[in-house]
Order: sequence, then C-alpha cells, then structure tokens
Amino acid sequence: PVTVYPNQKVASVAVAKRIADLIRSKQDRNEQAVLGLATGVTPIGVYAELVRLHKEEGLSFKNVITFNLDEYYPMRPKAAQSYVTFMNENLFDHIDIDKANVHIPDGTLKQDDIPAFCLEYERQINALGGIDLQILGIGRTGHIGFNEPGSAPNSGTRLVTLDDLTRNDASRDFGGKANVPTKAITMGIGTIFKAREIILMAWSGKKAPIIKKAVEGEISGEVPATYLQLSDHVEFILDEDAASELT
Ligand code: F6R
Repeated sequence: PVTVYPNQKVASVAVAKRIADLIRSKQDRNEQAVLGLATGVTPIGVYAELVRLHKEEGLSFKNVITFNLDEYYPMRPKAAQSYVTFMNENLFDHIDIDKANVHIPDGTLKQDDIPAFCLEYERQINALGGIDLQILGIGRTGHIGFNEPGSAPNSGTRLVTLDDLTRNDASRDFGGKANVPTKAITMGIGTIFKAREIILMAWSGKKAPIIKKAVEGEISGEVPATYLQLSDHVEFILDEDAASELT
C-alpha cells in the first residue's frame, strides 16, 4: 500500500510512532525489537522524533537491536561521512540504546574478510528471529540499501559497486565525487525481504520519477525497488511531492 502525507514532517512523525509502538509492544511482552535502519536525508526527521519521544515521553530503547542497511567501503567509522557517525549523531548518541546492540557493516575490513563478515551479519539477524521492521529510503537509481540496478532479488549482504548517479548524489557530503568511495557493503534485496514489515519513505519532487517506477513500473532488476511490489508487507510512505507522478 501507498500512504501519502501532506508533508515530510507529519509523515516522519507517523513513521516514528509506528516504530515506538513496536518497541513498546515488545517491551510489554519482555521481547526485543529488531529494527533495520537506513541513513541519508530521508529518515532524519524520523530519528529526530524518536529522540524527542525518548527525551520527552520516556520511550526506552533498552530492548532494541538495530542493523543498518549499509556502509561505504572503505570507510573509517570516525570519518565525518561514515554511516556510523551519521547514526550516532542523528540517533544513537541521544537515546538509551546499548551500543552493543547496534550493528553497522564494517567499512574497515580487509577485502578478503568481507564475505565472512557478510555471512555473519545475516546469521546475527536470523539468530534474533529476523528484522521486525525495516526502514528504507530510495536512491534515484532505484536502489534500496545500496542494491543498485542489476541486483538479484535473492541477494544477501555483500560488497557492491556504487552506481555513478549514486556517487554524484553523494558528492556534496564528500566535497567532490572523486572522494566518494566506489564501493559499499549492503544488506541484499533478499535480506531486506525477510523483514516482517518494510516501510519505504520518500520525500520531495526529486524522488517522484523513481517512486513512479518503483510503485507502478514493471518489476525488474533495472529498478531494484520494484521488487518490493512482490511483497505484501511493504508500505510506501510518501509526501505529496514524491507521490505527484503516481496515477
Ligand atoms: C542509506 C541507504 C540508501 C538511501 C538512499 C536515499 O542507508 O540505504 O538506499 O536510503 O540513497 O538517500 P537519501 O535519503 O539521502 O535521499
């Protein structure tokens, strides 16, 4: 299903409430909530609202375990552009999550060690019973995570090469495209699909053409997000601008 909100702010608050409801219902049952998280500008408002719910309404993250979708490769965790830094600054440093419960692909590995790391990432997710709720943004290539065009629907966590358009879009963060890593470690389409609930968010007219393809286009590896049409537990949450080309 597609849900359109008047603007990004109310949509972000609604998504944060969904996450908070999940965390609280798990707390009531003495269970852990396993969240799949995204970086980028899209989820920033959701994380800000989660921080507010923690500070002002006592939402605790003690029972929360997180797995981030991706990280650039190579990437030092302390670098300003790392997804570790992003998550700390936008969420983890402001809530009471146990940092031992946070998982982000490791951008410092030797290339030979990446396959074993990726298998272990999948194993950790499975050992916890899978991801309860996966948050996604969408890139203008149609990527989810860093699953660029050509990604297989059953792909797992792996090292991938970033699309040229993705590196262009990241160039501002890195002070020039030449500084953008050419690779990343990402959960696969198959990994994402195993989540019990998936929410893909998109804001602004810049995302309208790719949202039209993702929601209404032919299912194809050329636009990896189209695979989400095959799932009955995916919700597209859009602002009016991102939804403006939908029929
Ligand atoms: C980030 C991720 C990417 C982004 C996508 C959109 O962890 O997996 O798929 O969600 O590139 O990025 P923004 O939100 O910056 O437009």
